[in-house]
Amino acid sequence: MLDQILAPDHQEQSQRLIEAMRYSVLDGGKRIRPQLVYATGRALGLDDALLDAPAAAVECIHAYSLVHDDLPAMDDDDLRRGQATTHIAFDPATAILAGDALQALAFEILTSETWLHCAHSQRVELIHLLSLAAGKAGMVSGQMRDMAAEGQALTQAHLEQIHAQKTGALLRACVLMPAALCQHLDADGHASLDRFATRIGLAFQVRDDVIDIESSTETLGKTQGADDAHNKATYPALMGLERAKTYADQLVDQACDALDMIGGDTGPLINIARRIVARDS
Ligand code: IPE
Ligand code: IPE
Ligand code: MG
Ligand code: MG
Ligand code: MG
Repeated sequence: MLDQILAPDHQEQSQRLIEAMRYSVLDGGKRIRPQLVYATGRALGLDDALLDAPAAAVECIHAYSLVHDDLPAMDDDDLRRGQATTHIAFDPATAILAGDALQALAFEILTSETWLHCAHSQRVELIHLLSLAAGKAGMVSGQMRDMAAEGQALTQAHLEQIHAQKTGALLRACVLMPAALCQHLDADGHASLDRFATRIGLAFQVRDDVIDIESSTETLGKTQGADDAHNKATYPALMGLERAKTYADQLVDQACDALDMIGGDTGPLINIARRIVARDS
């Protein structure tokens, strides 16, 4: 879908912008968020075709968040997914604009009747969930607080709030969006999925902090040790590497336990949860 929407010859006037957007969203990445959307859909018995738009939309928001996260004014990283970050491959202004346009594209996709066939109320709910996750109470707030926390000694509760916003909110939306498309999910089922999503969201960032120390630049596709170099508030910095790893494992166990309430095929969700804490990149 994204390859088609961002076809190079569709926007001749803004060729460079489209190139930067394609570079940022189509060149690599683990695609864990779209996988999570489809896996939740599987657990709820939803048709995959209904999930293409939310999956693509959330990946656009994610890609934009990475482009801006890597900018000199933020984490100042020059390597992402094994290649130059967007502001290095293009220039900072183009990277900012490509990120802006990817964010807008996410909502263009969700509002498009070509890409998403669902009831109007469900479409509005998807837009609501994604905008909440992306914005001032979600990812952007988390990024703001992450920067403010550089060099600070935080409590675990404070760090948990930052991680839940900067990374957890978007991962949670990957689960809540399919839930919003499901006609037969009751309140208990919804609460179970929400608990699952919240736990894996936090585990994902704890693991990201761990592999920033333990993995290699080559495997990560981003510069190893960048958190330490920037004095970032991370779980290993707070509790030590081993305890951070154990904590991520515990979060994933709790996440998987929460799925007991869900009657459908939860295998793919459990698979993703386990991969989150086993990954080296
Ligand atoms: C990295 O996310 C940024 C965080 C939210 C920790 P991913 O590890 O999912 O990045 P890609 O998409 O696979 O490159
Ligand atoms: C960024 O967290 C989370 C985002 C919202 C992009 P990090 O700064 O730890 O992500 P990486 O390690 O650069 O991928
Ligand atoms: Mg960052
Ligand atoms: Mg970063
Ligand atoms: Mg990181």
